[in-house]
Amino acid sequence: MTELHPVLRRLGMTTPIVQAPMAGVSTPALAAAVSEAGGLGSLGLGAMSVEAARAAIRETRRLTDRPFSVNLFCHRSEECAPDRAAAWLEWLRPEFARYDAVPPESLREIYLSFLDNDAMLTMLAEERLALVSFHFGAPSAHAANVLRRSGALLATSVTSVLEAQVADAAGMDVLIAQGHEAGGHRGVFDPQGADRKLPLHTLLGELSQTTSTPLFAAGGLMNGRDVAAVLQAGACAAQLGTAFVAADESAASPAYRTALAASGSASEGDVTVMTSAISGRPARCLVNRFTALGARNDRPATPPYPYAYDAGKALDAAARAGGESGYGAFWAGSGVRRSRFIPAAQLVATLTREWRAGGAESA
Ligand SMILES: Cc1cc2nc3c(=O)[nH]c(=O)nc-3n(C[C@H](O)[C@H](O)[C@H](O)COP(=O)(O)O)c2cc1C
Repeated sequence: MTELHPVLRRLGMTTPIVQAPMAGVSTPALAAAVSEAGGLGSLGLGAMSVEAARAAIRETRRLTDRPFSVNLFCHRSEECAPDRAAAWLEWLRPEFARYDAVPPESLREIYLSFLDNDAMLTMLAEERLALVSFHFGAPSAHAANVLRRSGALLATSVTSVLEAQVADAAGMDVLIAQGHEAGGHRGVFDPQGADRKLPLHTLLGELSQTTSTPLFAAGGLMNGRDVAAVLQAGACAAQLGTAFVAADESAASPAYRTALAASGSASEGDVTVMTSAISGRPARCLVNRFTALGARNDRPATPPYPYAYDAGKALDAAARAGGESGYGAFWAGSGVRRSRFIPAAQLVATLTREWRAGGAESA
């Protein structure tokens, strides 16, 4: 059996499986089950208040003594021009009207970036976490120092060599290589910048040539064969999101689970698509009414993240009140058809067995 990288041993892992942090979907029960099974469980705290984040950390600690990771969003806050918000809401009005609803009057910045959230930094330092990871960028030098002094390892998602260089300069201990196959938000640092949309294995190839920082690989990984392949390509662990959305302990709603399952029997074509219409940033989602709306060519300029998400959530809520779940932010990666609806511990054990068998056992 392959030796685990020292960074995994420091995190108490006995198998190179990381459950991706997933805002709104990961739960203390999920993170604890994965860590108890020898992987690394993670909490997505990016959409939480400081109080809710602390409560989730404490609840996870109540369920397990093993290390787990927490994750925050480091997007650069942008202003949302009122006329842009107004044009967007007007464009969505007929969609709300289908469900006898009206769009909100204005758009709010529903999540504070960790870059602007000193209270979150103080709480995380007090809680002394094993690994703090980031999405959409790297933390400030000050925040990185405070967290490192509290004993945490630091990681961030990267989608290119350029972002890896920025992350390395910010002193990250681990880089999470996120391929274009990945479910959920693409971790690009600058959503206006050029995106080469690198598939995971191309990205791993480029990163292995340019950085010696340990790599977690993310994007489309669903079974032990996928895990074996990314380890072979230079990663020290596989980070899986979509595979764990289907786990019993996730917070995915019944409608989300039904949509995941339906993708497995979809006849042909892509079942996921990258869209920025839901939140204002590109994210891979199951094809649904919202992604179809986002593909329309009369679409005005989308308000920046997370303002657009305020409208996205309002439209989803209005539609659900009318019995329609087709506007949900049902994030999923390109491997979604291979989802297994089992408890998280069983998924970690299965992935480990398949990986140890060299992938030969994988479905
Ligand atoms: C439902 C869902 C929510 C996600 N939320 C986050 C998040 O809060 N923070 C983060 O760093 N990544 C998030 N991601 C992305 C994952 O970290 C990871 O890149 C992705 O899940 C890997 O691709 P896969 O879903 O095909 O396994 C999310 C992914 C999904 C599917």
